[in-house]
Amino acid sequence: MPAFDDSDFGVETPKSPMLARPHTPMLEHLQKITSNGSPSKHHNLVVPTMEKDTGAIEVPASRSSVAEAEHLMHSLSGSPSQVQRRSSRNSFGVSLPIPRSKRQSRLSSVAKHDGLPTRPGMPPIQPTRDLLSSQVQDMSTVKTAAAKDMAFAFDIDGVLVHGDRLIPEGKRVLEILNGDNELGIKIPHIFLTNGSGKPEAARCAQLSKILNSPISTEQFIQSHTPMSALAEYYETVLVVGGENYQCREVAKQYGFKDIIVPNDIVAAQSTLSPLKEFFTAEQRATSNPRDFSKVKINAILVFSDSRDYATDLQIIMDLLQSEDGVLGTRAKDPTSQHIPIYFSQGDLLCPTEHPQPRMSQGTFRIALEAIFKAITGNELERVVYGKPELATYKYADEVMTSWMETIHNEERLPKNVYMIGDNPQSDIVGGNMYGWNTCLVRTGVYQGEGNDKENPASFGVFKNVLEAVQTALKKELGEDFQLNWSDSMNPVTGSASVSAIE
Ligand code: G3P
Ligand code: MG
Repeated sequence: MPAFDDSDFGVETPKSPMLARPHTPMLEHLQKITSNGSPSKHHNLVVPTMEKDTGAIEVPASRSSVAEAEHLMHSLSGSPSQVQRRSSRNSFGVSLPIPRSKRQSRLSSVAKHDGLPTRPGMPPIQPTRDLLSSQVQDMSTVKTAAAKDMAFAFDIDGVLVHGDRLIPEGKRVLEILNGDNELGIKIPHIFLTNGSGKPEAARCAQLSKILNSPISTEQFIQSHTPMSALAEYYETVLVVGGENYQCREVAKQYGFKDIIVPNDIVAAQSTLSPLKEFFTAEQRATSNPRDFSKVKINAILVFSDSRDYATDLQIIMDLLQSEDGVLGTRAKDPTSQHIPIYFSQGDLLCPTEHPQPRMSQGTFRIALEAIFKAITGNELERVVYGKPELATYKYADEVMTSWMETIHNEERLPKNVYMIGDNPQSDIVGGNMYGWNTCLVRTGVYQGEGNDKENPASFGVFKNVLEAVQTALKKELGEDFQLNWSDSMNPVTGSASVSAIE
């Protein structure tokens, strides 16, 4: 359950969600789009409610939707600490829609292991072993219940992998949680990454291969996954970032109907980006140019890292200053609302195969905020999804609940959730605010001594993910909990006495 509310951030808890929220341009735009013939049924900002059976859940933003570029221009040294952020959160005018669970009817695919389809997230089918483990579980009811009442949310980059390179302890952790433990039980876990840039199924297939364990799209959230809910709100969108046209494909899978990418615009207007050095014949051939003076772009969605800052920033600035998202126009009133812009995550740095962490989507956003402030004199209003944003954690709850149904046939949220991450400013801040146990590992962004001073992990700091998982398992399931399955656990023929289990 979330462990914080508006009052935690220094604002009064509203009696009605609408009362305390200022009418910011972004909110007005969202309302305008949704009430002007879009397929959405939403006409007001609402907090999540169980009243609706279908459609998105709108989660109030937990971070300010207004940039603080002036502040950033003086100090680009890093994100504000959790303490500073709490006092600076002063805008709650925007909600971040997220999909309801069971979204996978649209996105899912069953991960393949060694080319063979598997049950999602389950080890290869071994009927005898399944039978044995369920007998062991039946005879160890207390431990089995505890194992189903805990869950892990894994950050990926810097915890399980570095880019395409495996962190070896990550592989062992997934073996344990997929059943290589004394109960032969699947211990619930999901993946919660700020990564981005390719469809969920492709990313899961890639990770399954690196980690040598099946990872299902049903247990997987990347930064832009919850943004699929925006497809209900916006008809025509500019999608920015990622390699080649993979983010166009992502948007298509999310249900966006009219998707434009920067290459489509460059192909139509060759003078638009004078700093662009190359526009290859292949890029031209694979783009979809059209007469953009006749197109109203409803929203800008930055899904992943820009591969061409100069061109992407130019196009975004053009659109933000346009009248109603029509390229080539200029808004009559420069202080009037601009079309909404969403970022899939805000990390400044990301661990990669390179020895030092590399710049991530957050640095692109900061560049844009500074340019927008310098050129227009106004702070950019924008929405940032991804950890540590509340909407992302609420969506994680949705996914965890439905994953529990998939693996244990129990549609409910485990009580003791452990977030394991390497970035205090996203994984740990978000997990702490959401009331999860947080574990900080030293295999990624965080390299400091002891716990992080600004955003300490509540469950502690660990050398690596295996150490963190082992400690959590021992806490929930007992110091003597065995981290391997043995067929000798056979309650009928095995040497291990079941009474020794419980
Ligand atoms: O910051 C970029 C992204 O790759 C980080 O991913 O898994 O550490 O949230 P992750
Ligand atoms: Mg990470």
